[in-house]
Amino acid sequence: MQLANGSGDSILLREIEDLFQTDTELPIGLAPLRPKKNLKSLKLPPEVEQIVGDFMTEVRHAKALEKAGLDPRHKALLIGPPGNGKTVLAGAISMELKVRAFMVRYDDLISKVPGETSRNLLRLFSFAKREPTLLFFDEFDALGRERDNDQESGEMKRVVSTLLVQLDDVPSHVICMAATNHAQMLDSAIWRRFNIRIELPRPVLARFPEFMLDEFRRFGHDPDPEKADLVEVAYRIVPDHFSDAELFTRNVMRSFVLARELGHPKTIEVAIQDELVLWAEGQKKLS
Ligand SMILES: Nc1ncnc2c1ncn2[C@@H]1O[C@H](COP(=O)(O)OP(=O)(O)OP(=O)(O)O)[C@@H](O)[C@H]1O
Ligand SMILES: [Mg+2]
Repeated sequence: MQLANGSGDSILLREIEDLFQTDTELPIGLAPLRPKKNLKSLKLPPEVEQIVGDFMTEVRHAKALEKAGLDPRHKALLIGPPGNGKTVLAGAISMELKVRAFMVRYDDLISKVPGETSRNLLRLFSFAKREPTLLFFDEFDALGRERDNDQESGEMKRVVSTLLVQLDDVPSHVICMAATNHAQMLDSAIWRRFNIRIELPRPVLARFPEFMLDEFRRFGHDPDPEKADLVEVAYRIVPDHFSDAELFTRNVMRSFVLARELGHPKTIEVAIQDELVLWAEGQKKLS
């Protein structure tokens, strides 16, 4: 993992790594969610920053709310089109709150043995409850959909019911975040469990130059705005989402590094121009 922006972040990342090193035996269905970026390096609309800030304040001061007889909110649903930061935001929040974070892997969790999946879920939650943890449920709509469509054994229905019960019971030191690209597919039982909703919209074009500049700086480059106008670049590549723009900058970096390796180095600005040509030819998919 590399972050070029400041030693404080690297120290924090190391602390997070240490948290994971103690977890040699993870229950079935859990995988570490390793933060990729910190919160301040994310490009978020101001209203999202506000909601995220409030969410973290509530999580940090959960005990005070509990003492006052109020339920602290610690379950958030991340909604929005692909590639705009749902996963990376969950990781960044765990880093900010200094809690370990895990992604729930349905493939591993779901067993053919009747009842075993629900048992796996119970084990997973009991593990999470042991200490402050962030549990991330990606593609949550897939579970909701399965619930309606499962015609074979009803096993999936039972699994989702178990999950909903667990979500009701989970203590406030377990932060639950679920992500979906298809919020309309979630039924009301699922909606009700998540009392914070964070919508990550498709970014406006104007956010991409700044995003790409940050990406280049992460690799220690600062393209000359005269020779590589990133506003013009964004206008030409018209990224659909941040991960598209990230792909573009990574391709540029790869071609920059390989050119140097092969003994015919080029500047970062030339690498950007070269990638623009490939992008225009439709080769961007060769990621
Ligand atoms: N708001 C953002 N700020 C900074 N980087 C971002 C942002 N959104 C996405 N990225 C970058 O784009 C990549 C894709 O983001 P991420 O995986 O979080 O998207 P996602 O919304 O979870 O997509 P999917 O729905 O496909 O799972 C990440 O590697 C991240 O670095
Ligand atoms: Mg994701």
